[in-house]
Amino acid sequence: MAFARILGTGGCLPEKVLTNHDLEQMVDTTDSWIRERTGIEQRHIAQEGETCVDLAELAARRAIESAGIAPEDIDLIIVATTTPDQIFPSNACLLQHRLDIHGCPAFDVQAVCTGFVYALSVAEKFVRTGAARTALVVGAETLSRIVDWTDRITCVLFGDGAGAVVLRAADEPGILSSHLHADGAYKSLLQVPAGIGNGGTGSPYMEMKGNEVFRVAVTTLGRIVDEALDANGMERSDIDWLVPHQANLRIIQATARKLDLDMEQVVVTVGKHGNTSAASIPLALDQAVRDGRIQRGHTLLMEAFGGGFTWGSVLVRY
Ligand code: ACO
Repeated sequence: MAFARILGTGGCLPEKVLTNHDLEQMVDTTDSWIRERTGIEQRHIAQEGETCVDLAELAARRAIESAGIAPEDIDLIIVATTTPDQIFPSNACLLQHRLDIHGCPAFDVQAVCTGFVYALSVAEKFVRTGAARTALVVGAETLSRIVDWTDRITCVLFGDGAGAVVLRAADEPGILSSHLHADGAYKSLLQVPAGIGNGGTGSPYMEMKGNEVFRVAVTTLGRIVDEALDANGMERSDIDWLVPHQANLRIIQATARKLDLDMEQVVVTVGKHGNTSAASIPLALDQAVRDGRIQRGHTLLMEAFGGGFTWGSVLVRY
């Protein structure tokens, strides 16, 4: 069986930046409260008319360029998103059309903040079994569209963006292992109640019991780390980089402590990006690859926790 290797990465952030000081003018909050509790200084927000697929397309084109392939080489497209442009076609199909790719499977994965980890894991299985050779995996979100901008508890946390990777079949790893989990019993701690199947009832905005999410996230992410290491017979010292979902600096620091990792070995973008949900890991990966921190041969642990609850990890030899 082939392995699946990350060939290239790309990212895209909307131009518009919303700082904590901007938020001070909108809700009863302060820059210092937001920084101390979350580590966030600013976030990028899609402008009117700018869509999730717009961001996904730019990130995808950059990943394709850095992989040195042509769009027509791609034979699988998976987009992780909670904020698709339309109910259908999926963002993956809309992106496929933008890239002028025809015929290959294209579908969305919805696992909120764990979406990219889910999508990468699914793509890896296609590549390893030979069902696909070159997969485009994108995490893209416009969470600003499901945030209540009068709710200070949630509106300070989120941002928009997209990140992408190209996965290619290879003789050597690649992705070493992936581990996916979910437990819908926690649905009420983090949700957007509105939907289609429920007849359109419920609030269309994010609702969150922040304290409880925080507590479960920290405990769960500690377990994820052990699960990934044990599955590969690895020690904590074998990990070169932690590329975590970027929800909150304090959650990231707790996971780094669990791994005995210095914060220098953790890719942190939450300060500048806020929580971009499914986009946060590929955006962080792209940044650290482009600035030369992450290099070929390094071992990376990507992990995420989010609404559902969903959680998971992917261990990668880059
Ligand atoms: N500005 C000022 N004060 C605020 C704000 C704000 N933006 N938001 C809440 N407060 C107030 C609260 O009203 C509360 O006031 P009170 O004591 O008078 O009632 C006080 O600050 C403390 O509120 P807590 O919710 O206890 O604050 P906490 O330290 O837990 O921090 C936070 C809140 C940042 C949301 C934290 O719980 C957290 O990060 N949780 C994780 C949730 C998360 O990351 N969700 C993202 C999606 S899931 C994921 O990606 C992992």
